[in-house]
Amino acid sequence: MRLAHVTDLHMGAEDAAVVAGLRADLVAVGPDRILVSGDLTMRARGEQFRAARALLESTGRPWTCVPGNHDLPLDRPRRAFGALRAYRDVIDREPEPVVRDDGLLLLGLSTARPYLWKGGLVDDAQLARIGTAFGPRARLKVLMLHHPVFRSAQRPQETLVHGHERALRAAAEAGVDVILCGHDHVAAQAELPGRVIGVMSGTACSRRLRAGESQSYTVLDLDGDGLRLSVRHWDGGGFVPGDATEWRRSAGGWQRRQP
Ligand SMILES: [Fe+2]
Ligand SMILES: [Fe+2]
Repeated sequence: MRLAHVTDLHMGAEDAAVVAGLRADLVAVGPDRILVSGDLTMRARGEQFRAARALLESTGRPWTCVPGNHDLPLDRPRRAFGALRAYRDVIDREPEPVVRDDGLLLLGLSTARPYLWKGGLVDDAQLARIGTAFGPRARLKVLMLHHPVFRSAQRPQETLVHGHERALRAAAEAGVDVILCGHDHVAAQAELPGRVIGVMSGTACSRRLRAGESQSYTVLDLDGDGLRLSVRHWDGGGFVPGDATEWRRSAGGWQRRQP
């Protein structure tokens, strides 16, 4: 099973050369599914969602998204009433998708809130969904949300999603293998409590770079009880291999294999 974790496209603040490079690289890498953890747009405009959708469609691969804080409009009335209207109209009627195919079991959560500015929240109903959605057997159980559940070494001052402790506990109890998140615009991987793997990717194709990192996304290759996480970074001419880590699953969960 090969998945690509792509996040923070920020269409409207995109770098056209990186968009073209990302499309070409995703076609070449050929993941079974592309998982997009929010901030598809810069300002939640219809044309920005359509550009994000066109990019994903052009890869020829199946894809699944959740919204991020930038996918809610800034405009107060629109923010208060129907904040996800454009997202639902263009990207997906269901902002909290469940995907089951070829051994993958994925739950996406929408953590952006109109009353929180940049922050995110995992609420009680979402915690309950983590508890129930991962019941069926699967080769890989993935929880995807926009806001981080762990801090990167590059941006240790960033705030985590509200309710992250409870979300991590619920995920570990539910047998989640991998939690995907974005928002911080840097690439990071972590062994989370309960030996769940945390994956954060950088902005895939926007000009909103942080901590001196170029655009990136992450390829997840599952082979039995082994998982390889390979970051692919933009180098000015194309996406090239960056850091890679190997993980091994045992009865107690996942552990990083020492390089
Ligand atoms: Fe972002
Ligand atoms: Fe964000």
